[in-house]
Amino acid sequence: MTFKERMNVEAGSAVMDNQISGQPVTVYQLGKTASAWRHGAGTSSDGMDTNASNQPTRRLTKQARSIIIYFSRSGSTELLAKQIAKETQADILEIVVKEPYDSNYQQTLARANSERETANYPELNMQVPDLSQYQTVYLGYPVWAMTLSHPMTAFLIQYGSQLQHKQIAPFMTEGGYGQGDSVERLKGMLKVDGRSTNRYESALVIDGNKVDREIKQINQWTSRVTQRD
Ligand SMILES: Cc1cc2nc3c(=O)[nH]c(=O)nc-3n(C[C@H](O)[C@H](O)[C@H](O)COP(=O)(O)O)c2cc1C
Repeated sequence: MTFKERMNVEAGSAVMDNQISGQPVTVYQLGKTASAWRHGAGTSSDGMDTNASNQPTRRLTKQARSIIIYFSRSGSTELLAKQIAKETQADILEIVVKEPYDSNYQQTLARANSERETANYPELNMQVPDLSQYQTVYLGYPVWAMTLSHPMTAFLIQYGSQLQHKQIAPFMTEGGYGQGDSVERLKGMLKVDGRSTNRYESALVIDGNKVDREIKQINQWTSRVTQRD
């Protein structure tokens, strides 16, 4: 990968907390043309799910009424999360797995396929606070195999019970094939006894190579969500 292909984007500068402001977001597929991008197939990462040079993003305050919880392997969903954070007063919590996904796309794909076939989702390596102060939860993930990526699945399995009775705003980046069944899956996982206790916003779906060019759409969606929370 050449330097030009890999663009370092400073985001989150409007976020006041030093723990996340000032940490550059490295986005491995940003600005790639369709032929170079190949719907995200082949995209490398830092091999540490965005945290090779950064601390996992974690901004928790006592007063926030909303929180952005996201996973990102190669930076696009992280950049999207940070743009949403810029427009809100939301806290932020990055989902971190114990064994990060490989920098090599094929290795990651093989692991993801095996985890899906065996329903053996990754172990998390993060402290999750009491989420009761939040009314709105933004849930962000890359689409894998036309559904939720496994770290988000693992998070929902383990902490979904803390998300009951909240407004849920799903957002995702993908390779141009759309949201798949990821939102239905998410909704299904949060049901209790077959019933939903949540209020859902329509999902924000952004191509992984274009997050920086969709600021208007991102901000419009974010402002719709904040008006209703
Ligand atoms: C294992 C794997 C499976 C993927 N499956 C799909 C898919 O089914 N449909 C799609 O549109 N994109 C797919 N992608 C592309 C990613 O959704 C896309 O590159 C996304 O922007 C990556 O987000 P991230 O940079 O936050 O990790 C896949 C990527 C990976 C690594």
